[in-house]
Amino acid sequence: METAAIKVREATAEDTLTLWAACFDAANWRGSDRFTREQVMNDPEFSHYVEGWPRPGDFGVVAVTGNGDGIGAAWCRTFAADDAGYGFVATDIPELTIGVVPGLRGAGTGTALMTGLIALGRSRGLRGISLSVEDGNRARDLYERLGFVRVGRNGGSDTLLLQL
Ligand SMILES: CC(C)(COP(=O)(O)OP(=O)(O)OC[C@H]1O[C@@H](n2cnc3c(N)ncnc32)[C@H](O)[C@@H]1OP(=O)(O)O)[C@@H](O)C(=O)NCCC(=O)NCCS
Repeated sequence: METAAIKVREATAEDTLTLWAACFDAANWRGSDRFTREQVMNDPEFSHYVEGWPRPGDFGVVAVTGNGDGIGAAWCRTFAADDAGYGFVATDIPELTIGVVPGLRGAGTGTALMTGLIALGRSRGLRGISLSVEDGNRARDLYERLGFVRVGRNGGSDTLLLQL
């Protein structure tokens, strides 16, 4: 899982700040800062994706430079039905979040994160991974290329599922 000097490895508790940054990037995928860092860290709609990382059942990967700086992350977390994420499908199907820092996109890091995360999901014997993608987000092409298919709709977003 390596792209030039960028390495993808399993995420640990020490990577929490990289996950928060990726969560912020995912919320602001359009590029304009729709949500402030404070909103992302305090509004449960966003914060429940990272708060308490790592919870039992969580798993993820981070992309790091040669210096060890985190430049992206992808991770999975399950939710209770009364605390569902945007891409909720079932309580035993974790929802994926992904983000790569803006200046370093389009160089293969996102693909490496996704394939690493999917491999971890398979090794855990999960039956699937879900996610939510808003209309117009190019990330959808990446998900569909990896086998995710549309299983639902939530506001202006589609819910996609990869069966493992
Ligand atoms: C989606 C994202 C994680 C992909 O990471 P990446 O490092 O750019 O990925 P790759 O270089 O491996 O490119 C894979 C695909 O990602 C998508 N992609 C590439 N650059 C992108 C960009 N600047 N913005 C959105 N999607 C992009 C494209 O579908 C690309 O496939 P293509 O090269 O055939 O067009 C990254 O672009 C990102 O962080 N976007 C903003 C946050 C976001 O949208 N998160 C997902 C919310 S559902």
